[in-house]
Amino acid sequence: MQRNTEVDISGSSFVHVLDQLLEEGLEDIRTARTVDEIEQARIAYLGRKGKVAAHMASLPSLPAEDRPQAGQKANAVKTELTQALQEARDRLEQQAKADEEAGFDPTLPGRTPWIGGVHPITQVQDEICSVFARIGFDVVAGPEVETDFYNFEALNIPQDHPARDMQDTLYISDSIVLRTHTSPLQIRTMRAGMPPLAAVAPGKVYRRDADLTHSPMFHQIEGFLVDTQVSMADLRGTLTYFVHHIFDSQTRVRFRPSFFPFTEPSAEVDISCVICGGSGQTGNEPCRVCKQTGWVEILGCGMIDPAVFTAVGYDPEAYTGFAFGLGVERVAMLKYGIDDLRLFFENDLRFLHQFQGPPRTL
Ligand code: PHE
Repeated sequence: MQRNTEVDISGSSFVHVLDQLLEEGLEDIRTARTVDEIEQARIAYLGRKGKVAAHMASLPSLPAEDRPQAGQKANAVKTELTQALQEARDRLEQQAKADEEAGFDPTLPGRTPWIGGVHPITQVQDEICSVFARIGFDVVAGPEVETDFYNFEALNIPQDHPARDMQDTLYISDSIVLRTHTSPLQIRTMRAGMPPLAAVAPGKVYRRDADLTHSPMFHQIEGFLVDTQVSMADLRGTLTYFVHHIFDSQTRVRFRPSFFPFTEPSAEVDISCVICGGSGQTGNEPCRVCKQTGWVEILGCGMIDPAVFTAVGYDPEAYTGFAFGLGVERVAMLKYGIDDLRLFFENDLRFLHQFQGPPRTL
């Protein structure tokens, strides 16, 4: 703002320039955010080498008759700026005090919100489903609040059957339960269509159970395939493919005879312990995960019982099929060497971030 040269300057243009200077100064003061910025504005306008002083210095070069009015104008501008500076300073100091009392420091950088990530259980669940999807299984879902018919009855677990005690049930009413397993999806899917069909059904299940290795809510994936002439060899091949893709191709698979009301024959499937490689030892220590046996159980399975086909209206003479149910937490713990189930549900960010890479911001 050095438009007033010492040459050729009249009183009226001097006044005009000072008006502009005032406007500019008031704007700078108005937009100052800190006491420091106010002080900078004061120096720029009212300082010894400031803009107002520069104009004052050119007063003597004005025509004599214009000088009194020009001088008055310069003083008025000075007064107005001084007052505006003082007001702004008071306001900012008060604000700073209030912020300090409220524990707020406006000079700190803002906190950028994190983008959420997919929970490790969901990641493992998705991964398992996609391994099965690759070999032609559909992915289906059903309700967590189930009727007695789908959760028990149609699965060949009649009222008073001792097998109901295997799964401590949370009842909503006499005939409505929180599903204790994902097996009801076998029934729902079969009732909705006809063979050939193959599907996996991931989801939450509930049991009255809580300790180091049990949580009242956990995740299962049910898998089933129905067609003509399905054999146990198909089941074994399918599960071996799954194990080799979720763990690695060195992992061995073993079937142990077992019992489930809805499969016959039934088996429990173990895999060679992924922590100790099946040796039962980690270093010189006995392996805690497989308790030195070299094997860990990962799922229950079997050939679908003819009684289940009858319950859904399929001809048990015409169709055969297999089913399996696996625990997602269990697979996730083995896959990542996690020894405490509760870590999945505490949602400690230090744990969760290990599954999603470094925190990302918007
Ligand atoms: N539903 C059984 C359970 O929760 C697992 C299972 C599913 C077993 C399918 C056999 C066939 O324990």
